[in-house]
Amino acid sequence: MVQAAVMGYGVVGSGVVEVLTEHRDSIAKRTKEEIGIKYILDIRDFPDSPFHDKFTKSFDDILLDDEVRVVAEVMGGVHPAYEFTKQCLEHGKSVVTSNKELVATKGAELLRIAKENNVNYLFEASVGGGIPIIRPLSQCLAANDVIEVAGILNGTTNFILTKMIRENMSFEDALAMAQQLGYAERNPAADVEGHDAGRKISILASLVYGKHVYPEYVHTQGITRITLQDVAYAASWGGVIKLIGQVKRLEDQTLDITVEPMLIEKSSQLANVDDVFNGILVRGDSTGDVVFYGKGAGKLPTASAVVADIMDCVKHLKKRKYLDWVDGDASLVKPYTQTVYASYLRVESQLDKQKIIAAVSDVFSDVREIVRANSDDQELAFVTGDMVVADQEKAVAAIEATGIHVLSKIRIADF
Ligand code: HSE
Repeated sequence: MVQAAVMGYGVVGSGVVEVLTEHRDSIAKRTKEEIGIKYILDIRDFPDSPFHDKFTKSFDDILLDDEVRVVAEVMGGVHPAYEFTKQCLEHGKSVVTSNKELVATKGAELLRIAKENNVNYLFEASVGGGIPIIRPLSQCLAANDVIEVAGILNGTTNFILTKMIRENMSFEDALAMAQQLGYAERNPAADVEGHDAGRKISILASLVYGKHVYPEYVHTQGITRITLQDVAYAASWGGVIKLIGQVKRLEDQTLDITVEPMLIEKSSQLANVDDVFNGILVRGDSTGDVVFYGKGAGKLPTASAVVADIMDCVKHLKKRKYLDWVDGDASLVKPYTQTVYASYLRVESQLDKQKIIAAVSDVFSDVREIVRANSDDQELAFVTGDMVVADQEKAVAAIEATGIHVLSKIRIADF
């Protein structure tokens, strides 16, 4: 029997205990070892829990017990999860986690400490919940040069956008519904401002390109400024607006990495990833496009990924799984203003329509007007061609100087 401990008995932690208990026999068959839960760490009391005898409030109980070989850190947040994880690894215990914030901010250091101590630090559940993506990227697709990863990585914002697209619901009403249903993070800003997706694309980029791409290097924009008008124009253009986390390697070897709303064509594999589902497209040079789809959040989907990592650690108690990246710096990333893409623009002006079209065409390339039913007075929308972002910003300033107000500018995806 191999003993494990679970740190944090929230939604995911209780799911981990449930999956380990209910699947005990099949897990034992697959790992050729029984896995016991010796401790559950939480500051709260759970006197009525069937596992009440396993609860402790003392981290040292876990740290100093040599029988505990694998620890699931499902507490969330950076502190004290970072300190606890570091000490467990230094004491020769493997650690598995769903904690995307910790992996995105301290991954390089924790992976190095795991390596130095010949133990494993695994985090399949940190991106895409129950969707297998970390192992496929690091193992199954390892023979590819990954050209691009683009994903719908946040279920809450995808739920909100789906309600806006399919039911014409306002952003505020859809957010309130997501909160009622328990999808949104405690602080909805992490979801709607794109930070949660930013951490996830930072983990995927680090894994694919082998160097830590910290979340602060990721241009991050959420969905709070998306309106029902934008959604309607996207539909008349032939697509939908989704919050996309994307990383691609440019010719000069720097990374174009971003989280932002994008217009994607209906024919794109990600266009029909709706509600709280996540979808991740990986473009490999040998495989072409591979798409992963499923539940990116929730108790049991996430717990299933955490438990699979526990099982992997048990199968590799004396050897390391190859899962590594080294530290990185800001020079890995192309400054956002130097990236190149096509855009959608929505403008408003008292000027004559032909004058507006002329002003926009003067400063943007390949301008094409798009229309929607029941458009507001004085409102026009366009799609424009590929341009460096710094030039797009100058173009926006130039048309604003002529009395045209730019209400929205949204990237058009290239997948
Ligand atoms: N708030 C996150 C989401 C939870 O909505 O996707 C899973 O990371």
